[in-house]
Amino acid sequence: MVKEAAYQKCINPKCGAQFDTGQSIFKCPNCGDLLDILYDWDKIEVPAKMSDFAKRWAGRDNRLDFSGVWRFRELLNFCDDKHKVSVGEGQTILQCNDFIAKEIGMKNGCLHLQYEGMNPSGSFKDNGMTAAFSHAKKVGAISCACASTGNTSAAVALYAHSVGIKCTVFIGSGRIAFGKLSQAMDYGAQTIQIRGDFDDCMRQVQDVCTELGLYLLNSLNPFRLEGQKTIMYRIIEAMQWNIPDWIVVPGGNLGNSSSFGKAFMELKQLGLINKIPRLAIINASGADTLDYLVNKKNLKWNKGYVDNSIIDDFYAELTAKKFSPHTCASAIEISRPVNLKKCLRAIDVCNGVVISVPDNEIVDAKALIGKYGLGCEPASAATVAGLKHLLADGVISTDETVACVLTGHALKDPNVTVNYHKERQGCYSNPPVEVDNDLQKIISLIK
Ligand code: F0G
Repeated sequence: MVKEAAYQKCINPKCGAQFDTGQSIFKCPNCGDLLDILYDWDKIEVPAKMSDFAKRWAGRDNRLDFSGVWRFRELLNFCDDKHKVSVGEGQTILQCNDFIAKEIGMKNGCLHLQYEGMNPSGSFKDNGMTAAFSHAKKVGAISCACASTGNTSAAVALYAHSVGIKCTVFIGSGRIAFGKLSQAMDYGAQTIQIRGDFDDCMRQVQDVCTELGLYLLNSLNPFRLEGQKTIMYRIIEAMQWNIPDWIVVPGGNLGNSSSFGKAFMELKQLGLINKIPRLAIINASGADTLDYLVNKKNLKWNKGYVDNSIIDDFYAELTAKKFSPHTCASAIEISRPVNLKKCLRAIDVCNGVVISVPDNEIVDAKALIGKYGLGCEPASAATVAGLKHLLADGVISTDETVACVLTGHALKDPNVTVNYHKERQGCYSNPPVEVDNDLQKIISLIK
């Protein structure tokens, strides 16, 4: 029987098995479904209102108050402070951007960009890694692994060595942006390139971790998703504890969308918020499993009784066709998202919508964000590309408040950026001009 305030529980209502947080299992040992971290809130001193968390800003010499994740620690209360690791994650900002709002036809003050590129490893992953590595410390892990389209491996490599855990990362050959590959190598991860795509790596890493007893750091790990909830807390904190009408997020392995749904579900249950924002999840057209299953196959959460046959049939089709996803947004080039079911729950909780956007629109949106905003990598720009469609279709109104989660830094994938500009691929292309080493000729070029 579970005695701690936090425990793990299988999301499948037919199973519902519970486990304490001292175990590292990552999938229900009874039925193989996903696990959730649940809390007995009566045993936790949760602040009476969200704004109480802001008091921690005054104690920023305390490493846990400084962390943009652990600042909210009562809401992810699964380990003692002595196990909590931090490299200063979560110092990210919400930028209200009227330039981009104007360009896409929204009213002033409505469009916000949550820039997660400011994290130590340059992506939102650090929010999850600080939580998962704290759990790894709690269970005494000495070696860990992950599969990755790049950012997970960068974040794992950074945290692993800063907390003294060995790590191996699996990436698909030729499928990873250079900025991310350079980080994994530089941070000292053993980097294994599998001749295959992310889905192949994801399958292999689970078997490797089981066989060798390695600690798994993909978003299958429910502790990671606890850390990612704080991205939502910081958005509402930056909006003076008001809730936006919409959260827009790219969909890859569907960890973020799942964790955002859980964050709002819990805040509502705790009486800390009185409204849940709507969630828009944006797939790339070349990796649109969620869009297809939700919109074409009507796949639903259905109180946890998900129709597995719809998913199994679709995956069998992909296998038969030897389908491999393709998009320039390599971070979300995933066709078998491991958090699919939790994401269906988030869609249910947040009255969510799913769409997909083609690569040419993603790179245009990326350049638009680069020109007027903080810059981001292609997967992150899927948010603004998707938002344009949702505005055009009247799903989102021009005067609603929207927060787009920019998941990764612009420098993660310089190749896509340079090619877009140099090859004049879109309406914001801004190629460099070459000129002779001659003053007059140079001056004649300045506009
Ligand atoms: N944006 C970026 C920049 C990412 O790196 C990822 C995922 C996503 C969005 C999708 O997030 O999985 O929560 O839906 N990257 C993983 C990786 C898969 O291995 O780095 P999700």
